[in-house]
Amino acid sequence: MGKEKTYALINYGCQMNESDTEHYAGQLVEMGYKRAEDFHDADVIIVNTCCVRESAEKKIQGKIGELKAVKAKNPDVVICVAGCMAQKDGEKLLKKHPQVDILLGTSYVNGFKELLTGFLANRKKGLYTSLEINDAEFEGHRVRQSPFHAWIPIMYGCNNFCTYCIVPYVRGRERSRSVENIVEEIKQAVKEGYKEFTLLGQNVDSYGKQTGDKEAFAKLLRTCNEVEGVERIHYMTSHPRDMVEAVIEAVRDCEHVCESFHLPFQAGSNEILRRMNRGYTKEKYLDLIATVRKHVPNAVITTDIIVGFPGETEEDFEQTLDVVRRVGFDSAYTFIYSKRSGTPAARMENQVPLEVKKERLNRLMALQNEISLANHQKLVGETFEVLADGPSKHEGVWSGRTRTGILVLWPTEGKAYTLGQAVNVKIDTAQTWLLKGKAID
Ligand code: 5AD
Ligand code: SF4
Repeated sequence: MGKEKTYALINYGCQMNESDTEHYAGQLVEMGYKRAEDFHDADVIIVNTCCVRESAEKKIQGKIGELKAVKAKNPDVVICVAGCMAQKDGEKLLKKHPQVDILLGTSYVNGFKELLTGFLANRKKGLYTSLEINDAEFEGHRVRQSPFHAWIPIMYGCNNFCTYCIVPYVRGRERSRSVENIVEEIKQAVKEGYKEFTLLGQNVDSYGKQTGDKEAFAKLLRTCNEVEGVERIHYMTSHPRDMVEAVIEAVRDCEHVCESFHLPFQAGSNEILRRMNRGYTKEKYLDLIATVRKHVPNAVITTDIIVGFPGETEEDFEQTLDVVRRVGFDSAYTFIYSKRSGTPAARMENQVPLEVKKERLNRLMALQNEISLANHQKLVGETFEVLADGPSKHEGVWSGRTRTGILVLWPTEGKAYTLGQAVNVKIDTAQTWLLKGKAID
């Protein structure tokens, strides 16, 4: 008997990439591969890449570089570079890194098995970056990271063209999976023991737009809510311009749809929002938040913010701080604007110097941390059902998440927990990023 064939997946970037990686793993397992303990020993290595910010690209270039030594040691290893950076830089990456065998863009996830089979037959380097392939429906099986939480892509691509963002160029135009295809995947996952689901898309509020139904996403939430065995449903990412009241009402009405809203506002100044091509004003955004609070008073609201967009003045930035104060987000992902060549913002004048961007980021983070802590402090004394997601880095302490995604730690006190187990935890300590408490079962 020959040696067992193994694979390694090195993933960077967003949840969509994680989900794609789970599909690569599924196809490799179908082909008879097993997961390698260490990527240095694998027969097939896939680096799934991200290019949303320059910092990600730098890290990934370093990792691909490392694979040169792996190839030198084992010329038979198949090295694949996939995902957004592969889509963007295609041939350039192949030239720079001769150790790469297959370079595949974002449209080829479904077709990976065929590409690998072809390569193994003829050992000819391949470059696959067409975005013309319509690959919305899902077939096959994913090998998921978590035994209880499943990523479920519902749509791919983005039509928004926010002026700072590279995503529409590397993920192509929006296309949605059919409701039937999505529900079938969820049902299958429930059979395998999954109970928590996150519906994924670059702009989930655009789900099904091709059909002309503005409420298609709200309907999808209601449909998924009815699937027997589903306990928690999350979704990301929403676009404040496209989120209709019907979605908020679906969250309000559906027992299993969790009451958290991730609503990236990016910037508080109307002039910056206009130049970002976001399609809403600060006032419209605040109205939307008010509608969320009206229907779902206990909603956890999180956001994404960019500081230092070209031309951002101190006054503009203060508008961002103002939105943060007014909304009182539970947490925020904060980013320094990163110039992405090929996007309109990269060509704009008045790029903000790095020191100014860093200083603004620090002020923004300090404000947000204060608010996150204050929000968390209000939860002390409450009891939450958390789904256990494993031991924390501290001995004898487990962690899990509330329905709204807040991280909770509790001491096991000698008890054994399993992944995905529902545990009621009474909160006694609040921190900026997490809550601590005691299990009260
Ligand atoms: N620079 C900084 N942040 C960016 N994002 C997207 N493009 C850029 C960029 N060029 C951020 C946005 C988006 C999140 C996923 O990444 O805030 O919501
Ligand atoms: Fe990028 Fe805007 Fe599309 Fe989000 S909605 S992926 S920020 S272009």
